[in-house]
Amino acid sequence: MKKYITTPIYYINGAPHVGHAFTTILGDVLKKFEQMRGNDVFYTTGTDEHGQKNQSSCQECGMAVQDFIDMRSGNFQKLFDAMKIDYDFFVHTSSQQHKNVVKDALDYIYKKGLIKKKSYEGLYCEGCEQFKKPSDLDEHGNCPDHQKAPKLITEENYFFPLEQDRQWLIDYINTHPDWIKPKRFAKEVLGMLAEPLDDLCISRPKSRVWLGVDLPFDDDFVTYIWFDALINYISSIGWKSQGDNAAFNETWAHCTHLLAKDILKTHAVYWPIMLKALGIEPPEHLIVHGYWLGEGGIKMSKSLGNVVDPYEVMDLMGIDPLRFYLCNAMSLSGDAQISIDLLKQGYKQLANNIGNLQMRVLKMIAKNLDGKVPSAAHLEAEDKALLENVANTFERIYKYGEPSLELVNELSAEILKAGDAVNAYFATQAPWVLAKDESKRERYEAVIYTTLDALRLIAVAVYPFMPSIAKKILVSLGQNDEIKAEFKPVVLKEGTQTIVGDPLFPFIA
Ligand code: MSP
Repeated sequence: MKKYITTPIYYINGAPHVGHAFTTILGDVLKKFEQMRGNDVFYTTGTDEHGQKNQSSCQECGMAVQDFIDMRSGNFQKLFDAMKIDYDFFVHTSSQQHKNVVKDALDYIYKKGLIKKKSYEGLYCEGCEQFKKPSDLDEHGNCPDHQKAPKLITEENYFFPLEQDRQWLIDYINTHPDWIKPKRFAKEVLGMLAEPLDDLCISRPKSRVWLGVDLPFDDDFVTYIWFDALINYISSIGWKSQGDNAAFNETWAHCTHLLAKDILKTHAVYWPIMLKALGIEPPEHLIVHGYWLGEGGIKMSKSLGNVVDPYEVMDLMGIDPLRFYLCNAMSLSGDAQISIDLLKQGYKQLANNIGNLQMRVLKMIAKNLDGKVPSAAHLEAEDKALLENVANTFERIYKYGEPSLELVNELSAEILKAGDAVNAYFATQAPWVLAKDESKRERYEAVIYTTLDALRLIAVAVYPFMPSIAKKILVSLGQNDEIKAEFKPVVLKEGTQTIVGDPLFPFIA
């Protein structure tokens, strides 16, 4: 099956941080998970390069527009490349290809008579790039997300009415309980739909915002940033209003958007109604996550010095443990915490669990068995039960699991549980004692075999989170590093040469 996974496209008014890194890593983890199950995946990420926020930032930098876009967008791409994210397409909303699709879509909707021009007065938050209602503001009249008072703006603009599709959207959510995951966010959207929807202002006068896509029917205006940005999800896979959309339709059929809760309304309210106007079905799923906060649940900010820099983390521990921590620690019910100390704790847990197991067993067979995988001929019931338990757990998740936060949480937790169970087995069986007694040779070999084969299963299961650690383990077990979601126990062949390599998780202070 062909699957399509997207991340939000990120504003370039600042540097990428661990929040952006997370959604992009999550997409890569889900892509690998799907590929292991034999699905084809097209994965996009990228940058949102228009709008007032980026324009102000460009002006502050005093750079030529294209140089600014290239430099700032390049910072995101460099980070994602450094994190070895396997994206298939990097979106630039300033590209001609994207701009053409935005114009095509607007023109199509305009010609259908769905866009109206009118004068409007409203409170505009530049941080959100959105008009706010007084009820959206906190008790000081500030935008709760940006802690700034929005500006009162009066202008003529073009509008796209939403209200006529409100009931349709409510019905869609109620009849597609899996559309928005986790479910609590679907409830939140139904709350947003409890009141009539205001018309969406889809233009900005060029006198105020010049960094954008010209409206095809009035070049005194540019397109509202969100109307432009959301279209990336269809421009990236070649949608057009006229002609053959067969390839587009095939990819769009199984599309999952990843996003954090900050942009739920744009994705779960504006976007499906825009798509309906274009004659396109809503994306198959939205996976919504909470925020990463600093330790103690405090918002990350430069002034508090608690912003986690992905480069600093990668220098300290490499990318794989960061990926694992993020997927394991993201909460299903709220926000999650991250700090260098918390990451170090996560790293030590991996070192004590998978790292320790691999090093101990490989060193032992290097000493006593010339580094060769022993025979499986004398496995006892408890050895087989351990292997079957580990294999069945992973088999179930890979076979029936659907991409979601629950899935990455469950799979990462089961990997740690399996590691704990095999470590406990190894400690109880005490193969170092068995090794000293020639009469216990068969038992010794069975215990070593069981441990090695369990480690192999764990390596395969952990691949989406820690691809290079997974491959290192498989190579150390004398396996090739081709990864498929196959979880049969007792697969290692007797006599296979293993290799004690460097520690998987070297000591960090
Ligand atoms: N440009 C819009 C998105 C347009 S998509 C059609 C935008 N950009 S953003 O730069 O603000 O990125 C927001 C997204 O970045 C969040 O939805 C989330 O994916 C990620 N995150 C940014 N900070 C985050 C945290 N602190 N925690 C978790 N995710 C965070 O909105």
